[in-house]
Amino acid sequence: MNFKRRSCKRELMDDPHLDTLLLKEVYADINRVNTFLRGFSLSLQAIEKIIEENPKNSYTILDMGCGDGAMLGKVAAFFKNKPVALNLIGIDLNSKSIALAKENLKGYSNIRFLEQDILAPETTDLQCDILLCTLTMHHFDSDKIPIFLNQFIKLSRLGIVINDLQRSKLSFRLFQLFSLIFIKTKIAKHDGLVSIKSAFTKLDLVTFSFSLPNVEHDIRWKWAFRYLWIIRTNGKQLAYERD
Ligand SMILES: C[S@@+](CC[C@H](N)C(=O)[O-])C[C@H]1O[C@@H](n2cnc3c(N)ncnc32)[C@H](O)[C@@H]1O
Repeated sequence: MNFKRRSCKRELMDDPHLDTLLLKEVYADINRVNTFLRGFSLSLQAIEKIIEENPKNSYTILDMGCGDGAMLGKVAAFFKNKPVALNLIGIDLNSKSIALAKENLKGYSNIRFLEQDILAPETTDLQCDILLCTLTMHHFDSDKIPIFLNQFIKLSRLGIVINDLQRSKLSFRLFQLFSLIFIKTKIAKHDGLVSIKSAFTKLDLVTFSFSLPNVEHDIRWKWAFRYLWIIRTNGKQLAYERD
């Protein structure tokens, strides 16, 4: 098994013909992993940090590759009793994911979901304060990543929070064990392993960061086998002016 390079294998969940009920179960598996292995809380802490650094009354938060909307649901619940107003937007390519997200979060008037491709130019209309990208970047080939990260920088006024997996033999083996107990669908078991093979080393992320000047990068390994990459974009105008 070779972990030196990112795998180009496609995930089964990206099949647009996948049955909606099955897709719902796959997201339930992903959400269980995110809850047990602290995926949600890592992104929440990063959002809280960016908000503390940039205090204001309201924030627009955009979730790229929002899936069934679970992350935005966690964001809404986390800030429910805090004195900030949130405008939350979820973007996903898959119309079935967007339908699930709308159904799951229909009680929230401050959350909306749009069916769009992260790589599509219309996304440049979506200005936000904080942009989230959780477990989605590894779905893209390496040549496409700098293209959408540059778009993300243009969209986000304060910061970008990328939360994705580490590519390593150890995490692959541990996920095989973990999935025996905690993952119910064959698709999520398969895709979890493909995800780890298509994920990133720190060197991969640092290399991407070199193609994104004029912003501040903070790339940290986090338990369990994740990278949390915060890109602070609030100084980008100043940096451009200095050029
Ligand atoms: C593994 S899921 C992650 C979902 C969610 N962010 C989470 O953390 O649970 C990856 C998501 O990215 C979406 N996706 C893949 N390619 C996309 C693209 N080109 N544009 C928008 N969404 C995309 C998929 O439909 C899927 O919902």
